[in-house]
Amino acid sequence: MTILIAGASGATGRLLLDQLLNLGHKVKIIVRSTQNISKTILENENLTVVEGSILELTDEKLVKTVNGCDAIASCLGHTPNMSGLFGQPRKLVTETTRRLCHAVKANKPSNKIKYVLMNTAGNSNRDLSEKISFGQKIVIALLCLLLPPHVDNENAADYLRVEINQNDNFIQWVVIRPDKLINESVVSEYNLYPSPIRSALFDAGKTSRINVANFMVRLIADNELWDKWQGQMPVIYNEET
Ligand SMILES: NC(=O)c1ccc[n+]([C@@H]2O[C@H](COP(=O)([O-])OP(=O)(O)OC[C@H]3O[C@@H](n4cnc5c(N)ncnc54)[C@H](OP(=O)(O)O)[C@@H]3O)[C@@H](O)[C@H]2O)c1
Repeated sequence: MTILIAGASGATGRLLLDQLLNLGHKVKIIVRSTQNISKTILENENLTVVEGSILELTDEKLVKTVNGCDAIASCLGHTPNMSGLFGQPRKLVTETTRRLCHAVKANKPSNKIKYVLMNTAGNSNRDLSEKISFGQKIVIALLCLLLPPHVDNENAADYLRVEINQNDNFIQWVVIRPDKLINESVVSEYNLYPSPIRSALFDAGKTSRINVANFMVRLIADNELWDKWQGQMPVIYNEET
């Protein structure tokens, strides 16, 4: 398969890139810089690197880049510093999702493309009646007001949920919602739920980045697993030991 990764230079994106290449897939990445990516990976013959800031690429370049891809995975996120959190582009994830979906549609692929978006357990799936406490509602409202990346994550998921929806001719999607991200070196047992089973704010669970990457890989390669979760926003927690 051929997979495009957005955010492949990030902490989760690099793990996804590694896992996909190890399985022999062809991978395209769009990155601002390759400095965080190992030389061995950069020399892999199945890797195509498009260097540039994803939102600054022309429509034509994006259409060409997504052409031939069976899946797109986004591990994009705002860099956790002042300019990443409060500077431009405030709609990094939403605009990237929208532009990549437009690029897919422009190519009119004969098979539906799988779009996997890394999101957060702090975001609700408004297709379901997910119950959150009054306290959490207040804090989320404040986060939306004060923290642009949270709104961006919500809007990106909403774009897939509402605009692409469930019956698009060219795109199917899964929005993955990890809880508090941690780094582990090996894939471990993890559990998947249609909705959060704990409060992302007041009782967060843990999710290894490597497990998020593993779930993305499995979704992309395993059609049965894909059919189980497509059009949904699974929440992923590490198995507690
Ligand atoms: N922290 C948590 O506990 C948590 C929990 C749940 C969900 N999440 C979500 O998961 C996302 C991914 O997590 P992570 O730790 O893997 O992220 P990360 O290491 O910060 O990686 C972010 C990726 O986005 C890219 N990026 C950032 N700003 C960009 C811009 N302006 N233009 C183009 N690319 C840009 C980065 O590229 P460069 O390498 O060029 O900077 C990098 O590839 C988070 O951002 C968040 O939305 C986080």
